[in-house]
Amino acid sequence: MNEADRIFDELETTLSHWGLREIPFSESASFLRRSQLGEVFTGRTQELQEVLTLFKGRERKRILVYGWVGIGKTAFILQVLSVLQRKAKDTLATYISLPPETDLATAALIALARAMPDDEWAQHQLNLMGLRPRKPPVQKTGKGRASIGVGEFNYEETTTPVTQPRFPTLSFEDLLERALKKYSRIVIAIDDLDKQDPARVRELLRNAQGMLKGGAWFMLTGHPSGLTRDILTRDLGLFDLALELKPLDQPTTYRMLVNYLNSARLQHARRDPDDPLAVHPFTPETARLLCERSDGVPRYLNRLGSYVLLKAATLRAELITPDILEQGFKYADQQLRGQTGLTPEDQYVLDLVLEKGILSDETVTLADLERLKAKEFSEILPILDKLVQLDLLRRLPSERAGEYAPTPLVLVGKPAEHKRE
Ligand SMILES: Nc1ncnc2c1ncn2[C@@H]1O[C@H](COP(=O)(O)OP(=O)(O)O)[C@@H](O)[C@H]1O
Ligand SMILES: [Mg+2]
Repeated sequence: MNEADRIFDELETTLSHWGLREIPFSESASFLRRSQLGEVFTGRTQELQEVLTLFKGRERKRILVYGWVGIGKTAFILQVLSVLQRKAKDTLATYISLPPETDLATAALIALARAMPDDEWAQHQLNLMGLRPRKPPVQKTGKGRASIGVGEFNYEETTTPVTQPRFPTLSFEDLLERALKKYSRIVIAIDDLDKQDPARVRELLRNAQGMLKGGAWFMLTGHPSGLTRDILTRDLGLFDLALELKPLDQPTTYRMLVNYLNSARLQHARRDPDDPLAVHPFTPETARLLCERSDGVPRYLNRLGSYVLLKAATLRAELITPDILEQGFKYADQQLRGQTGLTPEDQYVLDLVLEKGILSDETVTLADLERLKAKEFSEILPILDKLVQLDLLRRLPSERAGEYAPTPLVLVGKPAEHKRE
């Protein structure tokens, strides 16, 4: 047996000792299949209530979901779309992650066309944009039910450059008209606006006002920054509901951990959070420590959980003791800092933040900026935002523009000193 085979088998043995089929965590909601998401989705009861109540009405709505990177915007939107697809009659619900350098009308056009595989004109539109048309699904569902569009999401467009249509808004409106002949409600979710910089988001929204006020429902994701507040107050009327997703409380985070672990259990699930075995191979103590460390941010829980399990598996640990957990945290820190694509400038900015605790216009010095060949703090924002996307930093929810701090995935100084608020 070669080395790779041996390691592979060994990891599998450790996992099965824990009663797990696989490591259940995932970085982004878009990696999960719908059934998996349904199984692990936890909490957000009040937010679901707010959004789903709107869908009980007839009046068309525009909904903005906003919050930190990794807080669960994509998961939330997918969960809403999934229930609509299964239960809302005469509703066509479709999802797209905003492709790079694409306006909202084009994105909406792609999303809608993909959800109408039987419509030749829709498929022709996709063709014109250089996108592969969807094959009609083999199994047809009953009239008025969204047969596709939510089931398996399509992410290829995020990497394929799209040939922009000449009049995307008009093309979209034509297609919408066709869709509204078959369905009484069209819901279009355009995700990942939060990955664009705030100025660009504003421009995108400005240009899409006409479409947004047209005949479809929209769900968009946004930044937790001052920009969102701006849009909400100044460009009033653009959104009917702006929903901020906040960090989950500890009991909910703990339940989320239980759900993830159960989704990979080989044998009977143990869903009662009071049952110590519900978090096995974690102990209730290390499970709680992991949840605390995650700060109620689902993505942090997923990434830390995954690194801890990987580390524990290579150590062939039977249980995740506090010591194993610490080693897992260290491993996460190493892996995150060793990510590919980090330039020396990125590293330097990361070190600055680690050194200062919080980096902002106020804490940065001229000397710091000079070393980065920048004159103003705003010039290093793209680097900071890149580090946010990589889970190394997070933008603090402050009134002022950019304040950046390390995420709990990065160890600052001695782990023991790294206690958060
Ligand atoms: N309520 C939730 N229950 C379970 N897992 C969640 C929940 N919210 C988010 N997640 C998971 O956390 C990770 C990050 O969530 P995601 O929706 O991708 O964040 P965002 O879109 O805000 O950046 C994903 O793996 C996702 O499946
Ligand atoms: Mg997202």
